[in-house]
Amino acid sequence: MTERLYATPDAIAHAADLLRRGELVAFGTETVYGLGADATNADAVARVFAAKGRPHFNPLIAHYPSAEAAFADVAPSDAARKLAAAFWPGPLTMVLPRRAECPVALITGAGLDTLAVRVPSHPDARALLAATGRAVAAPSANRSGRVSPTTAAHVLDGLDGRIAAVIDSGACPVGVESTVIDLSGPAPVLLRPGGITLEALEAVIGRVRRGAPIADESKPLLAPGMMASHYAPNLPVRLNAVSVAADEALLSFGPKLPGAEAEFVLSASGDLVEAAARLFDGLRSFDAIAGLRGIAVMPIPLEGLGLAINDRLARAAAPREA
Ligand code: TXA
Ligand code: MG
Repeated sequence: MTERLYATPDAIAHAADLLRRGELVAFGTETVYGLGADATNADAVARVFAAKGRPHFNPLIAHYPSAEAAFADVAPSDAARKLAAAFWPGPLTMVLPRRAECPVALITGAGLDTLAVRVPSHPDARALLAATGRAVAAPSANRSGRVSPTTAAHVLDGLDGRIAAVIDSGACPVGVESTVIDLSGPAPVLLRPGGITLEALEAVIGRVRRGAPIADESKPLLAPGMMASHYAPNLPVRLNAVSVAADEALLSFGPKLPGAEAEFVLSASGDLVEAAARLFDGLRSFDAIAGLRGIAVMPIPLEGLGLAINDRLARAAAPREA
């Protein structure tokens, strides 16, 4: 049963508590309703993907109460600082490099070195973010493949019983998602048109390249910076391994195969949500170990979050770009 809350100070404190305990709370923003989870809690973020029924781990936006809080986790370029001054709080999302000390879980950014950050302007969202005191990961609060919700009733249509609470803030004033701009490369690239127009962006930072549109969330992502090889760990990846060689690392799921010296347990009990939460840490965990030939990954069932896990593993195993 999903609680329906109104943004009184008590309800905001309660919702912030739920988030800090790893529960999922949907909340209104000026653009669309977000499905919030503590972005630093990998298990909570894995449950966002499960609740949405996302077949892929698309990277999520981390939401902050201020630009200062956001820029503590990602490194802003000059253009990013200008855009923050002009449009935050508001419907603009910036993709920037994660700082080394960024506490946001890797699964939030789908294992990428970049993180999308946004400071929303809706007073209820701001109150919730301030009370939570942590980055909040929030994709649009719809089931995968459905349109983004702009009322609490829309949220409950898709997610009632799958999330702890929704903060009912009425109808979202902007009604379309935030504009997403990638500022992590040499030139700014528009990844998704949204609440802030391209003209408004260009008036502040000059020419912005139009990127390939980002894929619908129900389809694999092929936008710039999101090609298969960007997800790949240093070592080659072998899928559906039924045995493991001595010089291979093992990513295990369920009862582990004998013989590997280096091992990372995705889930000993065969729990797909736990495995999803640990996947990106697992893929990176062998990067610093010398003498390994590759990573052998045990079979993961193609059901529930297993679809997203297998999608991401297939990308990690795909032939590398030169
Ligand atoms: O208005 C909004 O942005 C809403 C509210 C809740 O803030 N959120 C939202 O989230 O629309 P979502 O997950 O439905 O869309 C986020 C988009 C996705 O298309 C994703 O691919 C892109 O942002 N994105 C996130 N992180 C990225 C990254 N590191 N690099 C490139 N694109 C990224
Ligand atoms: Mg969405």
